[in-house]
Amino acid sequence: MRRRMNILFFGTKSYDKQFFEELLKNGNYHDLEITFIEPNLSSETARLADGFEAVCAFVNMDLSEKTVRTLHKCGVKLILMRCAGFNNVDLDVAKECGMKIMRVPGYSPEAVAEHAMALVLTADRHMHKAYIKCRENNFNLAGLMGVNLYGKTAGIVGTGKIGAAMARICHGFGMRVIGYDMYPNKSLDFMEYVDFDHLLAEADLISLHCPLTEENYHLINKDTISKMKDGVMLVNTSRGALIKTDDLIQGIRDGKFFAVGLDVYEEETGTVYEDMSDRILEHSTMARLLSFPNVMVTSHQGFFTVEALEAISRTTLDNALAYVEGRESGNEL
Ligand code: NAI
Repeated sequence: MRRRMNILFFGTKSYDKQFFEELLKNGNYHDLEITFIEPNLSSETARLADGFEAVCAFVNMDLSEKTVRTLHKCGVKLILMRCAGFNNVDLDVAKECGMKIMRVPGYSPEAVAEHAMALVLTADRHMHKAYIKCRENNFNLAGLMGVNLYGKTAGIVGTGKIGAAMARICHGFGMRVIGYDMYPNKSLDFMEYVDFDHLLAEADLISLHCPLTEENYHLINKDTISKMKDGVMLVNTSRGALIKTDDLIQGIRDGKFFAVGLDVYEEETGTVYEDMSDRILEHSTMARLLSFPNVMVTSHQGFFTVEALEAISRTTLDNALAYVEGRESGNEL
């Protein structure tokens, strides 16, 4: 006899509902029942999962010890992360509680890499300023001068799925591409692997694509910034805490960076995906970053394409189905 599984879907946005509901109409998933709710998962909201076998959460939610223990007390056995990164999940506690965690390891590396390049181009060529100026009938070019990417050196930190996609884009722009990773990606025959210091010293554009770990926390700091070229461009679509924000701000103030593009930032929890337009920003470092003309900030939207959302919803439901049917999906943590 087939059994059904009920899943509580935290932090629902209209686009989540749209993509998941479209797939749920498909008969393959009729053993899954999803209840969509708006609150994000946190230690305060975890008890809403009482009576649910599974919960579905995202990158911006708090799955630290207290949350995981509360979910366990509520009877939750499965946590479905509808994202790749899982640095916000206390894996040890989940394991101790006998809970299974599944994720979507790769959905569209190109979505994130293309966004990284969009950030570079926007900040380099001042698209954000040009757009406003032209709308105001100001067709003067003052303040809009950029630099060519063609012929420059791109330094890719972490050459996994997204880093490789970014490397291919940079190669397509006519850049020399160097990379740093403990596990060289053999498919990138145009890539020259170098050590980290070498990358810092040679790259005109540095793009971060490694996961956040204890070892690389604040990888970009005062010391590593001092080893970069003057006029370097830096883009981070990976995780905010790879960069020590105060040191980055000091570097920007010192004129070290030609352009900076950030899709992720250290203080994003609590702000990301929220409309704060009628509120005062609590975090002074964020406000500071937003004040610089050569810094382009987006709100963790690298994944946000039709193709990526289709893949995320399909893999999340396939993960849930594998669990119900007692199979391994290969996406267990
Ligand atoms: P991946 O696992 O395919 O590749 C990561 C690579 O980084 C691996 O080759 C690994 O050896 C390397 N690496 C690990 N530690 C390193 C270090 N200290 N220095 C240099 N290289 C290191 O992961 P994928 O799919 O390419 O994703 C990368 C990151 O992108 C994720 O961990 C996540 O933080 C971020 N991400 C951001 C999204 C967004 O919307 N902005 C969406 C999806 C992922």
